[in-house]
Amino acid sequence: MTDFPFSFVLPQPNVIPSRVDNHIVRNLSSLKGQFLDQDTYNEMLSKDDSLIYEVYEVKRPEIEGEFLMGISIVHPGKVGKEFYMTKGHYHTVIDTAEIYYCMRGEGFMVMETPEGETCVEPLSPGSVLYVPPRWAHRSICTSRQEDLVTFFAYPGNAGHDYGTIEKLGFRKLVLDGEKGIEIVDNPRFG
Ligand code: PA5
Ligand code: NI
Repeated sequence: MTDFPFSFVLPQPNVIPSRVDNHIVRNLSSLKGQFLDQDTYNEMLSKDDSLIYEVYEVKRPEIEGEFLMGISIVHPGKVGKEFYMTKGHYHTVIDTAEIYYCMRGEGFMVMETPEGETCVEPLSPGSVLYVPPRWAHRSICTSRQEDLVTFFAYPGNAGHDYGTIEKLGFRKLVLDGEKGIEIVDNPRFG
């Protein structure tokens, strides 16, 4: 891996980086236990393991002092009333932050701390979102037809802790309610 400065572009309209080292594809099956409506989830999965989101990573050494960058693309869709979303995670090195820049689509970043604080921030083209250290994060696409596309950058040593979120999900859910988009408490937290 070169230590020489480099640049790349995020060409419109598809914004897939001109330099890509890794392409991650996550389907419905990788979000097992995360959607509220488990019956609808199982029914959908029995028919098709649909594509939910993709990540194009620009790799750098996974060490302090580096930044890892990429593009996250959450496709539109719902499981029951709940919009398609990423798995979401804490960083393994929990005191590391992350920056997101929304390039396309509409959605939310749902965040929480281990102490139970929550924050749900809207994302639309041009939004810059700062996720401070200690905040778990999940992006959610609420567009009906358009992908939610974000550029992200986070410290090379951050790592991903998926296990904590996999237990109960996030404390806040984003649903397609009768009167529009609703942000509600996750009943699994009692
Ligand atoms: O590190 C990040 O927060 C992003 O690169 C995410 O990995 C990306 O948005 C996909 O989400 P997740 O890692 O929760 O599957
Ligand atoms: Ni992250």
